[in-house]
Amino acid sequence: MNPYALAEQAGRELTDHLGGPFDAAVVLGSGWAEVADDLGDVEASVAAETITGFHPPTVLGHGGSLSAVAVGSRRVLVMAGRVHLYEGHSPAEAVHGVRSAVAAGCPTVVLTNAAGGMNPEHGVGQPVLISDHINLTGLSPLSGPAPPDGYAVRFTDLTDLYAERIRTAVRRADPTLAEGVYAGLVGPHFETPAEIAMLRGMGADLVGMSTVLEAIAVRHMGAEVAGVSLVTNAAAGMGGALDHQEVLDAGQAAQGRVAEVLRTLVASL
Ligand code: HPA
Repeated sequence: MNPYALAEQAGRELTDHLGGPFDAAVVLGSGWAEVADDLGDVEASVAAETITGFHPPTVLGHGGSLSAVAVGSRRVLVMAGRVHLYEGHSPAEAVHGVRSAVAAGCPTVVLTNAAGGMNPEHGVGQPVLISDHINLTGLSPLSGPAPPDGYAVRFTDLTDLYAERIRTAVRRADPTLAEGVYAGLVGPHFETPAEIAMLRGMGADLVGMSTVLEAIAVRHMGAEVAGVSLVTNAAAGMGGALDHQEVLDAGQAAQGRVAEVLRTLVASL
């Protein structure tokens, strides 16, 4: 099955299991998974791997459930258990979740992640709105056969990828929220200090191993994208040594703040 047909099938299953319609999808990244319980009332939930094309999670800190959550007046599809390129997945697999969410009718997809901080103004534990990205994976979810009839051509305009409309509304609701450019790499190793110096020179503020391909796939399907990184550590060479547990611990410590930011974001859509 082509990836679009697979996502359409999964979208139907999501609606069957969780009910529709949805006002948005929120993809929870490393360190964000536990936020699901703080966002609002969980109306329905399904294990991710029971839906066509979804994989069971393999990364510590990535749960594997898909839930319909009432966040304020909005009904949100919360997706915990993203799959990454570094697990050996293809770009099509890495974006299957968000394509399915759009196929299920989500007009907006909010992507969250854990990131290394490269901007000294962004502290550990701080959520930062993504203003733009630099895709350094060398990959695109749109490479391969042309999208089937009914889909936009693959030459997608990424000029306003992280929708200015949403960012303006979020900043108005919470003027303390910082913004930054996210550099997406394949990983799973962390970067060298020389690579971090290069990324800073490129204009990136945040570095991580997800999000960029999903943002492209969502935009291509005609839905809006918003993104928020949680700075879980100072990037390589800008603080101490790095380890995955530190990333998870920082996520844990920032739960209250990240839930608040997500609620503000969803209310601003
Ligand atoms: N680099 C890449 N990905 C990350 C980092 C980092 O420092 N922290 C959390 N995810």
